[in-house]
Amino acid sequence: MTNTQPQYPIISPSILSADFAHLANAVDEVTPATSRIHVDCMDGHFVPNLTIGPAVVKSLRPYTKSYLDCHLMCSKPEILIEPFVEAGADAITVHVELENVGEMLKKIKDSGVDVGLTFNPDTPFSAVEPYMEDIDILLFMSVFPGFGGQKFIPEVLNKVSEALEYRRKHNRDIVFTIDGGINKETAAQAAKAGCDVLVAGSAVFGSPNPCVAVKELEELAKAGLAEN
Ligand code: DX5
Ligand code: ZN
Repeated sequence: MTNTQPQYPIISPSILSADFAHLANAVDEVTPATSRIHVDCMDGHFVPNLTIGPAVVKSLRPYTKSYLDCHLMCSKPEILIEPFVEAGADAITVHVELENVGEMLKKIKDSGVDVGLTFNPDTPFSAVEPYMEDIDILLFMSVFPGFGGQKFIPEVLNKVSEALEYRRKHNRDIVFTIDGGINKETAAQAAKAGCDVLVAGSAVFGSPNPCVAVKELEELAKAGLAEN
């Protein structure tokens, strides 16, 4: 875990697109370029795909000091909060489309890790607004969750504007993260719209040099922000 505040925008590689037989290597490869790793946990029920659980985070933890940001795409994330925290997660993000969101956020906060809330492309900002006081990370899904390599949905950036307005007005220290379809064509526009952290899976691990890919995406994001 790092305590220094990064200079946003930064890139957070999603290991969903890495070679699952060599996950520690994948994390190692991008470490010179970023210290924020995105971990996609899918349960085969909330989304039609099955991926990473706490056991994988526990195995990775001794290999990296990077911030492990765990995105839970699960129907019952409440049963996974404690196992993920014990495994070494630094942040846990849950979906607002579920029930008992307030209780889940409290459980995450009480466990001592950063609290994340996410919402699907067709869920309005008004659904997450009541929880803005309780979270450290707001994750904008710019694809429908379930799979890497999907096409960026640009309309999601309108919600980033709404959230920025809220953040300014209430002076809240929330990290805006965007997840899905981030690549060389979309990184600049996401950063320009106000996203602090850009999750990128296939654009990083589908590249012959993941570390260079992170650096290139970060450059594009920083150039996008500078256009403002
Ligand atoms: C989608 C996941 C994303 C995904 C992003 O359900 O939450 O984190 O890995 O992958 P790309 O960057 O390939 O869209
Ligand atoms: Zn994700």
